[in-house]
Amino acid sequence: MAKFPVPVSNTVKDLRARVLQWRKAGERVALIPTMGALHDGHLELVRIAKRSCERVITSIFVNPAQFAPTEDFDKYPRTFEDDLAKLASVGGELVWAPDKGEMYPVGFATKVIPAGTAEGLETDFRPHFFGGVATVCCKLFLQALPDIAVFGEKDYQQLCVIRQMVRDLNMPLEIVGAETVREADGLAMSSRNRYLTADERAKAVKIHHVVNGVAAAAARGAGLENALVEGRRALTYAGFGTIDYVTVRDAETLKDWTHGTGRPGRVLAAAWLGKTRLIDNVAVPAAA
Ligand code: PAF
Repeated sequence: MAKFPVPVSNTVKDLRARVLQWRKAGERVALIPTMGALHDGHLELVRIAKRSCERVITSIFVNPAQFAPTEDFDKYPRTFEDDLAKLASVGGELVWAPDKGEMYPVGFATKVIPAGTAEGLETDFRPHFFGGVATVCCKLFLQALPDIAVFGEKDYQQLCVIRQMVRDLNMPLEIVGAETVREADGLAMSSRNRYLTADERAKAVKIHHVVNGVAAAAARGAGLENALVEGRRALTYAGFGTIDYVTVRDAETLKDWTHGTGRPGRVLAAAWLGKTRLIDNVAVPAAA
């Protein structure tokens, strides 16, 4: 058996046995769901989990159910050894790395179909996505039985969908949202950033400037429509191709947001730069 810098579990049976031992010792367990290709944003999730849990499990599973046939499942970066070394450096206790047959055995047929916060935004462009995410996260939660699971705000709609699923289905765990970790210039860290060419990487940060600009107008309560139009124009000017959306939504329900409702908003954007789809989002504080 290969010697890894962090213990790796490949079967639900083995995972459950380890978690049971921790529970018997009265230890709290956290789960960090990932698809690998780990970067500092993921490691920050582990650090956050360690503040309230003695044991942190990081799952690494590139989930075929959340990719459309036209998407990048085959070329999604797989960097398992490197991921393990990174997790060892932040003290991750266990990696849960099932193969496809363990996650979706022959005959697997049950799906979680999220609604509410899953409607619109990403779903308008990736209709298969949240069904795949909700189903695999439901399975991961039941496999690992964690006290908490930590998700990055970078995938903001995903975080809202998972919170809603856990609430709606009375799943006995807490979902913790973690602030987006950014590169020095402000670009949100993402496993897919490695697809960018050097030229695209230099342009990519524009999406962050645009969501910040829209958030400033939304917070002022003036010039929002103009900021949205200008934001799209700025992305095109910077070299972005298709702009899927730039919008402001209610931070919890993801329904339409207007200034002065007393509710926090969230600016969300998704746009293509070459062959890479980038997303970003920032908060808009509630205004009375
Ligand atoms: O955010 C991701 O990496 C994935 O969508 C997740 C939550 C691990 C489910 O496969």
